[in-house]
Amino acid sequence: MAEREAVGVIGVGWVGLVTAACFADLGHEVVAVDVDQAKISSLRRGASTIHEPGIDGLLERNGDRLIFTSEIADVLDPARLLFCCVDTPPTYSGDADLSRVRAVVAGLRDDGEHALVMKSTVPAGTGAAIRRDLPDVAYVSCPEFLKEGTAVADFLHPDRVVIGADPRDAWAADAVAELYRPLGGEIVRTDVASAEMVKLASNAFLATKISFINEIANVCEEVGADVAEVSRGMGLDARIGPSFLRAGIGYGGSCFPKDVSALKQLAGNTGYHFQLLTSVIEVNELQKRRVIGKLTKHLGSLVGKRVALLGLAFKPDTDDMREASSLVLAARLQGEGARVVAYDPVAEDRASELLPAVELCDSPGSALEGADAAILVTEWPEFGELDWPAIAGRMATPLLVDGRNFLDPDKLRAAGFTYEGIGRGSGAGRP
Ligand code: UGA
Repeated sequence: MAEREAVGVIGVGWVGLVTAACFADLGHEVVAVDVDQAKISSLRRGASTIHEPGIDGLLERNGDRLIFTSEIADVLDPARLLFCCVDTPPTYSGDADLSRVRAVVAGLRDDGEHALVMKSTVPAGTGAAIRRDLPDVAYVSCPEFLKEGTAVADFLHPDRVVIGADPRDAWAADAVAELYRPLGGEIVRTDVASAEMVKLASNAFLATKISFINEIANVCEEVGADVAEVSRGMGLDARIGPSFLRAGIGYGGSCFPKDVSALKQLAGNTGYHFQLLTSVIEVNELQKRRVIGKLTKHLGSLVGKRVALLGLAFKPDTDDMREASSLVLAARLQGEGARVVAYDPVAEDRASELLPAVELCDSPGSALEGADAAILVTEWPEFGELDWPAIAGRMATPLLVDGRNFLDPDKLRAAGFTYEGIGRGSGAGRP
């Protein structure tokens, strides 16, 4: 074996590019392949194809250890571990679309020399099926838990690394464990199906926490409590923990919506009705729509009203708009007859494709100028630093719906705003 294991990466989307760049940073030669020629050309020039803190530096620093190619053969020769990082988007039925994974499997040589290391999120049972199709390729389920926006840091400092493999593929599981060992997270060795379930169950649990706190927020509004205070009090219980208890206008992104629905569907396909996840999904959908009620409470009909969306990405530090709450909100507002304008510091390119009827502005000020209402959709730090008193004077109606409970209600009210948060009751807040 070479001094450091060469690593193959198949699919250079978010997970694949971060995986490739981080393994290169750990000193491995990495060969990464993608069917998208434009992506490969850009990466060969050293230009990142994603907006992710830290990725540019990694690509620059490790250029000599990173090879990007559109030929799978270039990967198969140097690397025995092939990290499969292709996307598994939802199908209309809610199942995961495994066509890209199947294409990867079809392109492999069943030569007894390689291991397919599955990073893509796949339904439990996928590994066993692939192992049957490719009996001489070892299979390791190694789900990825990184979050967009902190992907590089998450990769380099994992809470845990889950490695699922059959006993006959122990060599491959050992090699993967060895790759991750310098990162220091606890290594969980298990069987393939359990590893697959850890991933789906983790995302479903986090989504459940969010929908739970969002429902608590909705009750807080009725009883005059402040959900931020409730979360703080709950989170100090070590059994509950403080994370993922931020109420807002629902979760989005490429993972939670798809994985929750895939797990629900996976259960359904076996004849089990996963009631809790059905509610988690429904609560999340309704949560985005509740914003409309908050606007009409103050403005009446929205016909002809100028509504400014602050932030479009599904969360800060990313330009990803997949399943972003902004998409549903913009469509609902336009359905109500509002004129929707928006500003996002980085998602403008993606937004122009996804929201052609929304007027995109190049600054928060120009979006808010003359607006009848503002909705803070994504908690970009720069929105905390705006000159809100000056903005109040430039809006037609200084009404702000803070969809992420990001701003200080007292300061906004002092600046002249009618402030509506999510679950912040009558405004009764901290003592
Ligand atoms: C999520 C998981 O957190 C990762 O562990 C996982 O690897 C990833 O999915 C995946 O399966 O690939 P990600 O979608 O990047 O990561 O983003 P998160 O930071 O988890 O946020 C997801 C959504 O939940 C965002 O829309 C965020 O605004 C929302 N959220 C998060 C809340 O509404 N409240 C919270 O308390 C936390």
